[in-house]
Amino acid sequence: MTDLNKLNVPKTLVMVGMMGAGKTAIGRRIAARLDLSFIDADDEIAKAAGCSIEDIFERHGESAFRDGERRVIERLLASPKHVLATGGGAFIDPETRSRILESCVSVWLRVEVDVLWRRVKRRNDRPLLKTAAPYETIVSLVEQRYPVYAEADITVDSIDGPAEDTVDRVLCAVKAYLDREDREGSNV
Ligand code: S3P
Repeated sequence: MTDLNKLNVPKTLVMVGMMGAGKTAIGRRIAARLDLSFIDADDEIAKAAGCSIEDIFERHGESAFRDGERRVIERLLASPKHVLATGGGAFIDPETRSRILESCVSVWLRVEVDVLWRRVKRRNDRPLLKTAAPYETIVSLVEQRYPVYAEADITVDSIDGPAEDTVDRVLCAVKAYLDREDREGSNV
């Protein structure tokens, strides 16, 4: 594993995927392993707004949240290289997605819908799931979003189990991606 910890990721590593995919938990561990700083975009949005994500949705609505999310992520992408966990809808925004695809290495943590549901139903603070039928909401978000998340540079399946196993699999996949980029770059 020592090799993987020394991996030199040349750009910001962005975690994308659904709520409950583990973007923050896994991203934080990856940052520690690579000796990079870790930033959670939702925390930064809440900080900039001076209130919680729930409050932003309640007081101003989803579209105001998305505007703030786009602005905050644009600023974060301009800051020095780090590991960034994005909220589940961030990569779905065309502008944010193209910025991430242009200047970062993106990793989609793909999780089966029933595993997501098991994780998210324990908490009640996700504005998009405050619906009459939250399971159906998750299923429908997965259907809409998975084809878009698939545009990320790297896809890693995340299953229930020790977080460090998923971290190892992400680092292996990032290494393979960077090696491939190097090879293709040197063939040009
Ligand atoms: C959202 C996911 C949340 C948060 C907001 C909207 C989404 O972040 O950004 O509630 O659209 O899926 P997490 O993915 O970190 O839960």
